[in-house]
Amino acid sequence: MDKSDKKIQDLIKKEISRQRDGLILIPSENYASLAVLATMATPLGNKYSEGYPGKRYYGGNKFIDEIEKIAIERAKKLFGAEHANVQPHSGSQANAAVYLALLKPGEKILGFDLASGGHLTHGSPINFSGVFYNFAFYGLDKKTELIDYDEVEKIALEFKPKLIIASTTSYSRQLDFEKFSKIAKKVNAYLIGDIAHIAGLIVAGEHPRPFPYCDVVTSTTHKTLRGPRGGLILCKKELADKIDKAVFPGIQGGPFEHVIAAKAVCFFEAARPEFKKYQRQVVLNASAMAEEFKKQDIKIISNGTDNHMMVLDISKLSDNSKFIQEELEKLGIYVNRNSIPNDPRPPYNPSGIRVGTPAITSRGLGEKESTVCARLVAEFIKNPDDEKIKERVRLTVKNLVKEFPIYAR
Ligand SMILES: Cc1ncc(COP(=O)(O)O)c(C=O)c1O
Repeated sequence: MDKSDKKIQDLIKKEISRQRDGLILIPSENYASLAVLATMATPLGNKYSEGYPGKRYYGGNKFIDEIEKIAIERAKKLFGAEHANVQPHSGSQANAAVYLALLKPGEKILGFDLASGGHLTHGSPINFSGVFYNFAFYGLDKKTELIDYDEVEKIALEFKPKLIIASTTSYSRQLDFEKFSKIAKKVNAYLIGDIAHIAGLIVAGEHPRPFPYCDVVTSTTHKTLRGPRGGLILCKKELADKIDKAVFPGIQGGPFEHVIAAKAVCFFEAARPEFKKYQRQVVLNASAMAEEFKKQDIKIISNGTDNHMMVLDISKLSDNSKFIQEELEKLGIYVNRNSIPNDPRPPYNPSGIRVGTPAITSRGLGEKESTVCARLVAEFIKNPDDEKIKERVRLTVKNLVKEFPIYAR
């Protein structure tokens, strides 16, 4: 880096320290390996490679083609997919490409309600998806706070969507792709599995696999998968051409080949036995956290977790989740405020707090420490003005980040 650009250099240093010195409980964040980070910082990003390996619109792609082919093959193997497109710049771009590939504007999609666990790109009226497509939503059963597959089927039969999305952004239970697939078949709809959050768990056998049940699978590569920021589309062979055309030239120009190389590195790392162990620990840690929250009388949506995260319903304890998030940040713990099902409060200051374990597990925390983290968060939520508790949180965070370092100095 140009040392004379002090301003940016200083800010990068500060951000690295923030990531080192805090406990990140935001379930969509993680620490990518140094190999992934180093690959993103290579001159591969200089290259223009519009098109696909062997069919580029620019010369000079001999080595880039090899790299992208390796990324594609590794992705296919890892997820048991017939076809992979590694070019989407993000999870949102991946979803945009799938809609463009399979639907005409105005056609019907059945998505997971945002406050119940879905994502903006699954039909929010303030997102392109809700603007260009006609969405209906399934939510959670009021009592169990689980997906009610009979209800999904009922809505699907009435609404007759052309596409159904099985996904989770804040749902702490497993998705039953087989049940979704039966419903999709009944109404002759495509089934899309958006595995952005659970991709790492799936690879490691900690969550059921989406294939052969889904027609198309979209993902991010930077959450549980621990790769670079980016998107991924996997699909059945017969949809490959449509999907590829929708990514380029449909919604993107030149692919980020430095990121695609980093995706290949991430897929290599995800195929290792250590990755399986890591994902197992992510789930065990989340489970330990959930038990502690319950012990502390903090309500969890659906009363627990089967994956890497959970949403705490703090509506009885606080009417200001934004304040809780911001105050915890000052003490070195990062969580994110989140809507709960049928939330009476607005998304900017909703009734929930979402927590997860991918990042703390990457730095080596186990169940014992995850329990401590949950206890600290719970005690703070219940007593946000208690200076003694705040001091205890500060000190415990300081000790934990020292004991479990990441990105060594
Ligand atoms: C289920 C799901 N899909 C898509 C996305 C979008 O990914 P990105 O932020 O890379 O656009 C997210 C991000 O949180 C997500 O949770």
